[in-house]
Amino acid sequence: MRIKISLTEIHTLGHYIKEKTGIVLDEKKAYLFESRLSPLLTELNCSSYTNLLDLAKKDHLISTKLMDSVCTNETSFFRDKSPFSLMIQKLAPDFFEKNPIKTLNVLSAACSTGQEVYSLIMALTDAGITAPRFKINFTAIDISDKAITKASRGEYSKFELARGMNSEKLSKFFDKNGELWRIKDKFRSIVRFKKSNLLKSNELTRLGKFDIIFCRNVAIYFSKDDKQKVFDTLATMINPNGHLLIGSTESLVGISNQYTRNTFQGAIYYDKN
Ligand SMILES: C[S@@+](CC[C@H](N)C(=O)[O-])C[C@H]1O[C@@H](n2cnc3c(N)ncnc32)[C@H](O)[C@@H]1O
Repeated sequence: MRIKISLTEIHTLGHYIKEKTGIVLDEKKAYLFESRLSPLLTELNCSSYTNLLDLAKKDHLISTKLMDSVCTNETSFFRDKSPFSLMIQKLAPDFFEKNPIKTLNVLSAACSTGQEVYSLIMALTDAGITAPRFKINFTAIDISDKAITKASRGEYSKFELARGMNSEKLSKFFDKNGELWRIKDKFRSIVRFKKSNLLKSNELTRLGKFDIIFCRNVAIYFSKDDKQKVFDTLATMINPNGHLLIGSTESLVGISNQYTRNTFQGAIYYDKN
């Protein structure tokens, strides 16, 4: 059952969520509060959204559940296709041509349930860009406990796999586990998964430096100030000659001057200045 939210509750809860995650939810998103948080209200036996907010402020676990509920985890395997061709046809080969014995460090920021980082691994493996000849480290982060836990398990339903996977890749990269399919351990174990908040610069920079950062389809939920902060922080984490990839509907115009836009066969990416 959907429980109605008042305008005051939208403001107070919206403020709390923005502070914690950067996600902007205003009165235009009343339906989203109601559809995503009504089940939590029922589960926690809360009489109102104000009651839920009071509990979240006191109890870290409830706050985590609240954030998990408001995060949009929409993703799919090989989402938008072109970033993955760009990676195997240009970015990774260019890197190893210039640095044949170095490790390529890749970050999937706001990785959701892991499809992005596993798609990268599958694309690179199929292209023969793999260990032992080519050394690549993968890090994947997300603010959502639920999403990052699922990502690190690497287990997907038929429905999730139907979005972007073909049967050839399925049998090559996954093992059947009951009703689910699990990415083979040798691919899962090469990713470092970490719960991390893009808005917390200290937390982010502690992850280290990267040659390629994917930060797609998350900043669309942030205010302009938070977008600027996130992309400027990410710029400090990119090695010289490194790159940033953002979502197909996103742009850095008026957001950050730390990058130069570039294209390769129709795919857009950014070079760190
Ligand atoms: C729409 S998904 C995008 C997933 C993937 N990058 C893609 O393009 O398919 C957005 C993800 O951003 C995460 N997210 C939202 N705010 C975040 C923040 N402040 N720090 C890190 N991750 C965040 C959400 O939990 C969600 O999993």
